[in-house]
Amino acid sequence: MIRNMKLKFLLFVFIHSLDVNAQTPLPLVPAPVSMTMGKGNFILSPQTTIVLEGSNLEKEASFLNDYLMQFYGYSLPVGTKKTNQQSIVLNYERLDQPLPGAYNLHINEKEVYIAGDNAAGVFYGIQTLIQLLPVNPANKQLQVPQLSIEDRPRFAYRGMHLDVARHFFSVKEVKKYIDYLALYKFNNFHWHLTEDQGWRIEIKKYPKLTEVGSCRAQTLSGRYGSDVYDGKKYCGFYTQEEIKEVVQYAADRHINVIPEIDIPGHSLAALSSYPFLGCTKGPYKVMETWGVSNEVLCAGNDSTYRFYEDVLDEIIQLFPSAYIHIGGDECPKERWKTCPVCQQKMKKESLPDEHALQSYFITRIEKYINSKGRKIIGWDEILEGGLAPNATVMSWRGEAGGIAAAKQNHYVIMTPENPLYINHQQSRNEDSVTQGGYNPIENVYQYNPVPSILTEKQAKYILGAQGNMWSEYISNTSKLEYMLFPRMAALAEVLWTPQEKRNWPGFEKRLPGILAQYRFRGLNYSTAFYDLQPAVIRSGDTGIAWKLESRLPDGKIIYVIDSTTNASFTYTQPIEIKQSGLWGAALTDSKNKIISKWTWQSFNLNLASGKKITLRVEPNKSYSAGGAFALVDGIQNNKGMLRSAQFLGFNGNDLEAVIDLGSYKTVDSIILHAFEQKGSWIYAPASVTFFTSIDGKEFNPLKEKPQRSGTKNLEYACRVNSQTRFIKVVAKNYGMIPPGEPGAGNKAWLFADEIEVK
Ligand code: ACM
Ligand code: ZN
Repeated sequence: MIRNMKLKFLLFVFIHSLDVNAQTPLPLVPAPVSMTMGKGNFILSPQTTIVLEGSNLEKEASFLNDYLMQFYGYSLPVGTKKTNQQSIVLNYERLDQPLPGAYNLHINEKEVYIAGDNAAGVFYGIQTLIQLLPVNPANKQLQVPQLSIEDRPRFAYRGMHLDVARHFFSVKEVKKYIDYLALYKFNNFHWHLTEDQGWRIEIKKYPKLTEVGSCRAQTLSGRYGSDVYDGKKYCGFYTQEEIKEVVQYAADRHINVIPEIDIPGHSLAALSSYPFLGCTKGPYKVMETWGVSNEVLCAGNDSTYRFYEDVLDEIIQLFPSAYIHIGGDECPKERWKTCPVCQQKMKKESLPDEHALQSYFITRIEKYINSKGRKIIGWDEILEGGLAPNATVMSWRGEAGGIAAAKQNHYVIMTPENPLYINHQQSRNEDSVTQGGYNPIENVYQYNPVPSILTEKQAKYILGAQGNMWSEYISNTSKLEYMLFPRMAALAEVLWTPQEKRNWPGFEKRLPGILAQYRFRGLNYSTAFYDLQPAVIRSGDTGIAWKLESRLPDGKIIYVIDSTTNASFTYTQPIEIKQSGLWGAALTDSKNKIISKWTWQSFNLNLASGKKITLRVEPNKSYSAGGAFALVDGIQNNKGMLRSAQFLGFNGNDLEAVIDLGSYKTVDSIILHAFEQKGSWIYAPASVTFFTSIDGKEFNPLKEKPQRSGTKNLEYACRVNSQTRFIKVVAKNYGMIPPGEPGAGNKAWLFADEIEVK
């Protein structure tokens, strides 16, 4: 977050100045299917009346009036007959669209006419009208441009998720969140209510779930993998009355609330409350850090199922949603493998392995939920061991699970971590702690929930998509808004606007107007898109350069300092880096006043820096760091944290790199910089070997074994003391992760960020 309010203000003023430009498009999000501009304006004033031509639209009128009251200080009389006054007419029309929620909005001098194919359509039309209202009105006469819009949703499921378990959000805060969904025409709120770190919903039959399970003794406050705790007890849950209040509030905004009760993993809060639910019977404690626990529900004990059926009975009473989310993600099988009760259950049910036992668990719970007339959604792990017959799959580990499910004629909601985890960082220069990798707004915008690999028939199973908001590092509404906005606007357009009508340049032009609306509403938001964009690039064949770009319009000066020489200058082209040192850059306005945070980059050059490098096996696409060049770009990551953009990641594969120093060089030493963070399944290499060669064909291994040093940031260093031209580095992957270690049973990741040759 930009903590320096003065800088933030300057940047805001600057971005704000963009939207006074007459060329600026209307800041409508999501962009409507079709829009024709008229001439002139409709003037909305306290004399305007709302006319309900359609029946049962009182709540829609109230929503508009509440909005006008909150932001403009007045509300409008509501009637059923037109008067001589200017009016806003709410009505229905048959619009013959494939999905409900279509509407037409016609604005002329006398009238705003909103016709929906149902009440939701009218509500969406009102949201569009609200976005047309001025954000800097001089008085109570609100100018609204005359125009004509025909609009309809692209997807049936338009979702946002909120994790209230890692951090709790009050009823008031959740209602605010629901208002954000309403603004952008979302229709599903996925409420993640139970976790290892807390149980957040009152269950009358099992009061300990909240008496015990809603509190943890303390919370990890440092980055994941650190041992920094806040030492403060943390509690929170919703009473059933509060749940009903939220469900009704959402329903009034045409938003369905999908509760998630996560089973059989992510259940430590429940286990701590009722230890009989586990294989070992405890003792358990509500989790104080993040990640995945080996302590899961016992899948062999019938009383586990009865307990959850009781819980679900109360959940079904509280939530009218057709869908109930049962989690199913990240359930380690360690306990089941050694639990006699689980093993007996597998024998009795002829289940070949523990994945089949997980499938049995989910299917049994599904059967129960189906018997109550509801359907289940589960995370894509529910595919393992066989899908429950009627399940809808929420694909989070990429799209593969969603694709597999659609091919099996199961419904799918796409929510791939990259780019739909909205809790991931949106700025490369982020200075608040966030979870996960770099997920800028452009990536969210470019997402298409329908994978091109699917046939037209299979594609029909993609119900839509959802943005997920995991709250490990989001503990208040201000941070929540900062993570949401403006990325949620980009996602809204993914979900609503036809694919062929979407384009990033069009969205980028609307962005200043969208940010102006946030300012008007008093919402916190990120200006990360306008951050200075630094990149370390190749210069020629064997050089390194620092490239800087501004996304603010022309005339912006980028001011650079080189701390090795103390020189400062105005940026004109990528800067050749010829020696080690620290560089800094910032944006300035036309008066040379600095209007952004500083971006810093230190370079530590060595014989390999910028040299030609080839890899035998390419890194994983998700952790490619832009390619092999990152291993010789003169930047060593040594902060003890995972800045994934800097690292090449190999999933199960070895790293094998050859560097051509260009000519014979006397080499003293070689150092490989790697990383270890077992909790993220990143393991130190099993072995590291260095080779030298004079011709690039015949490589001789160094006699000495590299010495390993460091924790997290690992260095493998070896003395050479000879002349050579080519250097080969082979780092063997750790391999399959053994039982008892984080990620057991999966391929380990090998992460490397630099090869130094001195
Ligand atoms: C998830 O992120 N574990 C669904
Ligand atoms: Zn068991």
